[in-house]
Amino acid sequence: MTQPTRIVLSSDHAAIPLRQAVARHVESLGYEVVDIGPVTPESTHYPAHGEAAAQRVASGDCALGIILCGTGQGIMMAANKVKGIRCGVCSDTFSARMIRAHNDANILSLGARVVGEGLALEIVEAFLGTEFEGGRHGTRVDMIKAIEA
Ligand code: RB5
Repeated sequence: MTQPTRIVLSSDHAAIPLRQAVARHVESLGYEVVDIGPVTPESTHYPAHGEAAAQRVASGDCALGIILCGTGQGIMMAANKVKGIRCGVCSDTFSARMIRAHNDANILSLGARVVGEGLALEIVEAFLGTEFEGGRHGTRVDMIKAIEA
């Protein structure tokens, strides 16, 4: 039996209910969810949560990640500082497909104050259900990696 793909989830305080809804949905799709919190609603700092999820992906412990804050922007910026991470904020399903297909994104970021739960879950499905196309897009992703190196 093959192991389910591990997906790491994290957020700041602004996105806890949406993160928990995403976790339930991702699990229902057959993935293994590694939800690294936080659980309690006190104000916290999105860079720490973005970095923590990014390290799980960069280390290979989890194949992909989904991170959330109020806008999705701050936590995305933090995650993208970790070597090997390509994270995009999506508020629509087309972008969620394209960041996988063309950019080989390994983390999706969502804004809990931007998208409602129904749309967020569709964005998550679009992201997880799309493979990287490679080819000319591989050349471009290699160029991103070269900047990082
Ligand atoms: C927290 O108030 C808010 O600034 C944070 O969730 C996020 O939107 C930052 O980018």
